Order: sequence, then C-alpha cells, then structure tokens
Amino acid sequence: MARKCRGEGSQDGARGWREATRCALYGPDGFYLRTRPAAHFRTSVHVSAHSALFEAAVTRLLAATAAALRTREVAFVDMAAGSGELATAVAAAAAGSHPSLSVRVYAVERAPEPAGLDPRVTWLPEVPDGVTGLLFANEWLDNVPVDVAETGADGVPRYVRVHADGTEEPGDPVAGADAAWLERWWPIAGAAPGTRAEIGAPRDEAWRRAAGSLAAGLAVAVDYGHTRASRPPLGTLTGFREGRQVRPVPDGSCDLTSHVAMDAVAPHATRVPQRTALRALGVSGARPPLTLAATDPAAYLRALSGAGEAAELTAHGGLGDFIWLLDPAGVDLADVVRLAGPLRD
Ligand SMILES: C[S@@+](CC[C@H](N)C(=O)[O-])C[C@H]1O[C@@H](n2cnc3c(N)ncnc32)[C@H](O)[C@@H]1O
Repeated sequence: MARKCRGEGSQDGARGWREATRCALYGPDGFYLRTRPAAHFRTSVHVSAHSALFEAAVTRLLAATAAALRTREVAFVDMAAGSGELATAVAAAAAGSHPSLSVRVYAVERAPEPAGLDPRVTWLPEVPDGVTGLLFANEWLDNVPVDVAETGADGVPRYVRVHADGTEEPGDPVAGADAAWLERWWPIAGAAPGTRAEIGAPRDEAWRRAAGSLAAGLAVAVDYGHTRASRPPLGTLTGFREGRQVRPVPDGSCDLTSHVAMDAVAPHATRVPQRTALRALGVSGARPPLTLAATDPAAYLRALSGAGEAAELTAHGGLGDFIWLLDPAGVDLADVVRLAGPLRD
C-alpha cells in the first residue's frame, strides 16, 4: 500500500484527487511501481498478444511516418510502456516487415525495467529528447492524475477531497487556472448539484511535454475519452483491480483512471476512433473462408483467432470507441495516412 507520500497527511487526512492519485499510483510502493498493468486489465496491446494485429498496425504507422519524413532511421517511443510489450513487438515486427528501416526503440515507463527485456529496447524513465519518429502512448493519459470538481447546491464547483478509504467531501471552490480550464473545456458552474468534472489540465501539460520531445514525427495518444459535446455529467473516475472494475480508493490497492478530455489535450490535433485508425492500418475483422478449414485447418484456426481479436480491437462499446489523437510535428499527416496504405519495403 502507498502510505507515505510527500504532501500526504493534511490534518484530517483528506486530499484532492490529483495528489491522492499521484501517491496511490506512483508514490513509494504505489500501484504502478508494485504491479504491471497486464495483471489488472486488458489494453489493446494485451488483446492482440497472439495475433500481434495491433502491433503490426503500429509498426505500419511507424514505417509510414519514416517514409513521410523521407528517412530510414527512426525512433519508436512506447510512452507509458507497462512491461514493454508494444515496444518489444514493434522492434520484432519492424525487423521482420521493414528490414531496410533502422529503428531505435524506447520504452518510457515509471516502473522498473522488467527482467529479460528484449535488448533492442532501451528502457527510460523519461521521454528521450529530440528523436525523430513515432511516439505512441496507449492508455497513458487516463492514468495522469487529475483533480475532480463537483458542483454544490449553490452551483459553485468545488474540489472534491478524498480520504484513503475513498470517502469524499467537498473542498474549496475551484479557482485560478483550474477554474479557467473548467470554464473553457468542461463548464459545470451553475449545473445541477452533484455534476462532476475531471480537471484535465495536467494531462494537457503532460502531452505537450511528451509530444514536444519529438524533433519531428508523429505523436499518438490512444485512450477512452470525450469531447466538449459529450462530457459525462458525473465524471468517469473509477478503479480496476485484477480484471474487475472497483470503487476508486486511493490506497495503492487499485488502478485509478478517468476518461480523457481529448479535445483539450491537443485542440489542433486530428482525432479518429480506434476502429477507423486500425482499419486504415490493415486490421480487418473478416472471418477466414470456410474452405481454408478443409485445406489448412491450422491456418484457419489462426486466422479465426486473429479475426476475433480484430473484432475486439474495433468493437462498438469497447476498444473500437477509443480515440486516437494524431499530433504531427514537422510532417504532413496526410502524407503519413497516404503512405500507411500500400507501404512495404
Ligand atoms: C494503463 S497502463 C498502459 C500500459 C501500456 N501502454 C499498454 O497499453 O498496455 C499505464 C502505464 O503508464 C505508466 N505511466 C504513467 N505515467 C507515466 C509517466 N509519466 N512516464 C512513464 N510511464 C508512466 C504507468 O506506470 C503504467 O505502466
């Protein structure tokens, strides 16, 4: 359990959600320093562990980015890498399908380097500065701690304070830069009592730093999210533990996550649903023809399992609804998209 953490222990033990989450996830003995994501939920990376469809699609995007940049030397930065599964798979896939590309692969993660990591992957605690290529952040921003605001009976948004057992109480009125962020991106002043918002400013800043680390290339954030037209009135803060959704309790025992205000993160960037992005990158949920079952049963079963994983990656009401935020730097996104189609060495 995350007990000691700088800033913890105001007199009554309650803190804002941002600080409580920071301690619970990343403080000494915090959730993400003790345990790996795969033990608690399935990201797209875990879903396609057998077929490697997601990894192949990301590799195709990397190759298209390199082609649009007219370079054969690129970096792949797996931002918030978990156990480095995506980084490892992209290193292997790039070597296999694009042998003429020279790819430096980085896994950026707060947790320590896992034993037996593929030697092609460089494990880093911070994004490398000034590389050229593709930075890919799958399910990172939802874990960047944010404060929660709730409108009181007087219509005033106040910070929500939380105790270590998850019980909440109203705090001070939201003020300053946080109030300005709410006003611009998620206005709840004067809304019905109990209306909530997650104040995404720290995510916007985290993204600016990560995407800004590229000398040139494409930065992609993939997460469950919403835009100003579709904010959830009660917020989305929740917990996950061992495959189950649980009440959010900031004691280090569970993941703490909330959907991302994607339009605020990078207002200029392009956003598409994951199902659209993956289809453009060659992921198809089409079932293999039955005739294959008679001629090559093993290939049929492999293709069938791939089709199942593709369906899960692109599902309505599931991973297919995730938002891909495409944030180019010094490269034309239209070029990348065009080249991602028929690209091969
Ligand atoms: C939900 S997991 C996603 C893991 C992986 N990207 C995947 O899709 O399977 C979020 C990961 O982000 C990491 N993380 C959070 N903030 C980070 C930061 N500032 N720098 C590096 N890693 C971070 C956590 O430690 C955790 O492993």
